[in-house]
Amino acid sequence: MPQARYWGFWTRSKLDILRGYLEAFTTASQSSRETIYLDLFGGNPQNIEKHTGAEFDGSAGIALSVTQPEFTRLRFFELEPTNARGLRSLLDQDFPQRDHRVIAGDCNTEISKVLNDLRKFNWAPTFAFVDPNGPDIHWNTLEALASFKKKGKPKTEIWLLFAAGMFIRELRVDGSATPEAMARIDRMYGSDDWRKIYQARVEERITPGQAREEYVNLMRWRLENVLNYEWTHSLEIFNERNHSIYHMIFATDHAVGDKIMRSMYKKSAREFPRMRQEAKAMSDRRSEEDQGIQTLFDISEEALKPVSAKEGTYLHEQPWKPYGSES
Ligand SMILES: C[S@@+](CC[C@H](N)C(=O)[O-])C[C@H]1O[C@@H](n2cnc3c(N)ncnc32)[C@H](O)[C@@H]1O
Repeated sequence: MPQARYWGFWTRSKLDILRGYLEAFTTASQSSRETIYLDLFGGNPQNIEKHTGAEFDGSAGIALSVTQPEFTRLRFFELEPTNARGLRSLLDQDFPQRDHRVIAGDCNTEISKVLNDLRKFNWAPTFAFVDPNGPDIHWNTLEALASFKKKGKPKTEIWLLFAAGMFIRELRVDGSATPEAMARIDRMYGSDDWRKIYQARVEERITPGQAREEYVNLMRWRLENVLNYEWTHSLEIFNERNHSIYHMIFATDHAVGDKIMRSMYKKSAREFPRMRQEAKAMSDRRSEEDQGIQTLFDISEEALKPVSAKEGTYLHEQPWKPYGSES
């Protein structure tokens, strides 16, 4: 059994959106005989929330627990062999009758075979969760997901964790990013257009915040203009210290999908400040208790105040022309 993995409170918030959306997805697709769930970064069978110590279901358990109705075919990819084995035995034990499979290996190399095996269901509503730890997805893989569809049917919906906050750290602003790091980001975007943003950052023509927005925008722009998705949405996720850690980008061709995710993002944005403040208050209290300091209240009122006026809201904006594309 692999070791349990510990997650920040924001992971719960991400998985709450996943659960809510998947429930709405299968309900909206109930007239279809088949529905497909693809999880490109399947994860670990045992997940624990850092600040509470509570165990929770990862994406695989969540997708298999959706019952109104169930997904008919589920495929999970996992690179780490011990995680893949652990996930497979958990799913076999908890959901023995279902059509699920854990593919041990790199989703970027395994995806075409799996999609080929599912080809006869390419008319079925399909949702792909792409949840890497860093810039580990390849554009070719997103392209393969988008082209897995019968003519006239909506494309696979993609929900992508976009780790801008993480990969920016690899891109040193003194211009010394390694060729390997740069090649990795080229593969993720399927283009080197992002290098214009990086160059502007190296030359300090844009701030770190602007660079982050531009990187996210470029991904959304390409999903809409290269893969031809009708709508994309992006929700920014912060840690307890209010640092941006990643964005959740959603791409769909379906008006119902657009409407549902829009309302999920609004709900999550409203609830997020409270979750963040509660997590911060709990971890502050834990460290005070570790130092033997007594606290009078569970969570102080001060800690529950929203930190900024912008926080707590989600507004959809169209992606704009990528940085430097007009020059
Ligand atoms: C953030 S975790 C996924 C969490 C999971 N979606 C959940 O919610 O429970 C990322 C996982 O992807 C796996 N991984 C990393 N690179 C991969 C790749 N190229 N293909 C498949 N899995 C990969 C890692 O071993 C890790 O378990």
